[in-house]
Amino acid sequence: MAAAAGLVAAVAAALGALLMAPGLSQPDGQGAPGPRGGAAAAERRRSGRMDQALLLVRNELPAPGLNLAARSGSCHQCLYQFLAFVPPSNESLRKPGTASVMVDTQHPLTLLLNSSVGDRDLCKIQYHFGEFGNYSLVVKTLSTSNQTVSCDLIINEGPINSYLPILFAFLVYVGILALLIAGRLLMKIDTVRNWVYKKLNPRATDRMINSELGSPTTTDSINCDPAPQSWSSGSRQRLRSLDTFRGLSLVIMVFVNYGGGKYWFFKHESWNGLTVADLVFPWFVFIMGTSIALALGSMLRWGSSKWKVLRKIIWRSFVLILLGIIVVNPNYCLGPLSWDNLRIPGVLQRLGFTYLVVAALELLFTRADSGTWEGRFPALQDILPYWPQWIFILVLETIWLCLTFLLPVPDCPRGYLGPGGIGDFGKYPNCTGGAAGYIDRLLLGEKHMYQHPSSAVIYQSTMPYDPEGILGTINSIVMAFLGLQAGKITLFYKDQPKQIMSRFTIWGIVMGVISAILTKCSKEEGFIPINKNLWSISYVTTMSCFAFILLLLIYYLVDVKKWWSGAPFLYPGMNSILVYTGHQVFANYFPFKWKMQDSQSHAEHLTQNLTATTLWVIISYILYRKRIFWKI
Ligand SMILES: *[C@@H]1O[C@H](CO)[C@@H](O)[C@H](O)[C@H]1NC(C)=O
Ligand SMILES: *[C@@H]1O[C@H](CO)[C@@H](O)[C@H](O)[C@H]1NC(C)=O
Ligand SMILES: *[C@@H]1O[C@H](CO)[C@@H](O)[C@H](O)[C@H]1NC(C)=O
Ligand SMILES: *[C@@H]1O[C@H](CO)[C@@H](O)[C@H](O)[C@H]1NC(C)=O
Ligand SMILES: *[C@@H]1O[C@H](CO)[C@@H](O)[C@H](O)[C@H]1NC(C)=O
Repeated sequence: MAAAAGLVAAVAAALGALLMAPGLSQPDGQGAPGPRGGAAAAERRRSGRMDQALLLVRNELPAPGLNLAARSGSCHQCLYQFLAFVPPSNESLRKPGTASVMVDTQHPLTLLLNSSVGDRDLCKIQYHFGEFGNYSLVVKTLSTSNQTVSCDLIINEGPINSYLPILFAFLVYVGILALLIAGRLLMKIDTVRNWVYKKLNPRATDRMINSELGSPTTTDSINCDPAPQSWSSGSRQRLRSLDTFRGLSLVIMVFVNYGGGKYWFFKHESWNGLTVADLVFPWFVFIMGTSIALALGSMLRWGSSKWKVLRKIIWRSFVLILLGIIVVNPNYCLGPLSWDNLRIPGVLQRLGFTYLVVAALELLFTRADSGTWEGRFPALQDILPYWPQWIFILVLETIWLCLTFLLPVPDCPRGYLGPGGIGDFGKYPNCTGGAAGYIDRLLLGEKHMYQHPSSAVIYQSTMPYDPEGILGTINSIVMAFLGLQAGKITLFYKDQPKQIMSRFTIWGIVMGVISAILTKCSKEEGFIPINKNLWSISYVTTMSCFAFILLLLIYYLVDVKKWWSGAPFLYPGMNSILVYTGHQVFANYFPFKWKMQDSQSHAEHLTQNLTATTLWVIISYILYRKRIFWKI
C-alpha cells in the first residue's frame, strides 16, 4: 500500500505539472502567433480571475450613454445588478465610448443595456461566458431613420475549457484503479504470489497472509472470508455495504469541504436546487439511522439493559455535540476564543442531536416480538409494529410544516422560503430563510450562527443564516428515521436479500413520488422546493429516495454478490468520526494544503483537493490495517 501511496502522490504531482503547463487547456486557433503559442493564454490566465471573463463594451451611440446591468441565470426572480456605465461616443472624434467589466462564467448571464436617460431598454442578451475569455459587446445604430439599435457580442479570444482538469483527474483515477486491479489479478497467480512473498521479508509473509485473509482469531468482523454468515444473527458480521456507503459520502464530503476544485457544482447550491455538495450530509444522517437500528438491536440482544443503552446514547450525543462545537470554531488566529461569536450549530452538533432523538425513540419503542401483526398485514410487518414511532415522526413533521408556513415573521411574508437579498425582486432582503432563519436569530442570536450562507454570493443576502439551524433539525430527524427504517428492513429480512432489495426499491419509489409531487418536478416552482439550507421536507424525501436506491446497489454488489469489497470507501467508512474531525482540524496543514502557484486555476485547486482527499483515504486504510478505529 505504501507503493500505492507513492504512486498516488507521484500521479498527483504529474497531474499538477501537466495541468499547469501553459496552453494545454487553450483551444488552438485565434490569437498569439508568437514564438510560444500558449504563452499569451498563460499570461491571460495569470491576470484573469477564476470563473470570470472580460467583457469590453463599445458604445457607438451618441449621448447620453448606457447602463449595463446583469442577472445570473441561477438567480431566481432576481433584480438586475448594475455593472458599469458606458459613456457615449464622441462624434467629433468618431471614437466610441468604452467600458470593461468582469463577468461571471459559472452560470448563463442575462445582460441588459438601457439608456441612462429615459425609460428605454435597448437590448437584452443571454449568454454563457467562458472562463478567461475576452469578449466585446458592440452597440450601434442600424439605421438613423428609425433608431434601431443592434448589440453584437464578439469573441476576441476564446475561453479555456474549465472542465478539462476534471476529465484528466477522472482518467488518472481510472488508471490507478486499473493498476490496482491488475495487481490483484497478478497476485492470484500462485507463482507470482510466492515470488513476491519471498522477495518481501519471509517472516512477514505469514502475518501478511493472515491479515489479508482475515485471521480466524480476530473477533472483529472485517474478515473477507466468504462464509455465509449473516451479520445480524449474533455473529456480529458487519454490513459492509453500510460502511461502504458511509465512506462514499464521507469521501465526497471531505473533497467538497476542501473546496471541490472551486467548481460551483462541488459547492453548495446558492438556494434552491441540488449540487454534488448537497448530497452527502443527508446520506450521512440516513446511514446513522440505519446503524442505530443494527447497533441497538445487537446491544439489547447481548443483554444490555435499556437504561445502560440510554446512558450510552446520551453520552455519545454529548460527545458529538461538544466535538462539533470545538471543530466548527477554529479561532486560532483571532486570539482567545471569543465567546460572543461562538457558532453553536454545525454538522456534528446536528448529527449528535439527531442521534439522541432517533436512538432514544428506537430504544423506547423497540419490540422483541412482532408476531401479532404478522398474520393480518404481512406486507407491512416492518412498519405497523412501530406505529408509535411513526406517530411521533408525523407530529414532528407537522410541527415543521406549521412553523415554516404559519409562524409570523416580522417584516416578512408568512411562509416565506426564499433567500432574501436580491431574490424575489428585492422585496424581502432581510428575510433569508423565512421562519427557519427567524427562529435561529431569535433563540441563538445572530452572532452565534453561520455568517456566510451560500445565498450570500448570488443572492447577495446579508443576513446571517445557519444551514444547520434549529428548525431543519426536525427534518434531519425524519431523514435519520427513514434510515432507521432501512436498518429495520435489513434486520427483519435478515437472510432474504430479495425481500430487502424489493423493500428498498419500494421505499425509494415512494420517496421519489412524494418528492415529485412536492417539487412539481421543478427547481423553483414546487410547493416546497428542494433546499439544503432549509432542509426542506422535499430535500429529505429526495435524498432518502437516492439513499435507498444507492444502498440497494451497494448492498447487491458488496453483501449479496460480493463482487466488490467496498474498497476504498470501506476504510474511511469504518473510521468516519476520525476522518471527519481530522480533515477539519488539519485542513490548513501540509500536505493537505500548500501554497499554490496560481490561486486562480481550477486545475491547481482540484489537484490539491483531490490529493488531500486521497490522503485521508490512505490514512484510513493504514488505520484499518492496524485495526485502529475511533469510536465514541
Ligand atoms: C470629444 O473629444 C474632444 C477631444 O478630447 C473634446 O474636446 C470634446 O469635448 C469631446 N466631445 C464630446 C461630445 O464629448
Ligand atoms: C436601467 O437599468 C438599471 C439597472 O437595472 C435601473 O436601475 C435603471 O432604473 C434603468 N433605467 C431606466 C431609465 O430604465
Ligand atoms: C481583449 O481583446 C481586445 C480586443 O482584441 C484587446 O484590445 C485587449 O487587450 C484584450 N484584453 C486582454 C486582457 O487580453
Ligand atoms: C429600422 O430600419 C432597419 C434597417 O433599415 C430595418 O431592418 C428595421 O426593420 C426597421 N425597424 C423598424 C421598427 O422600422
Ligand atoms: C435590512 O437590514 C439592514 C441591516 O440590519 C437594514 O439597514 C435595512 O434597512 C433592512 N432592510 C429592510 C427592508 O428592512
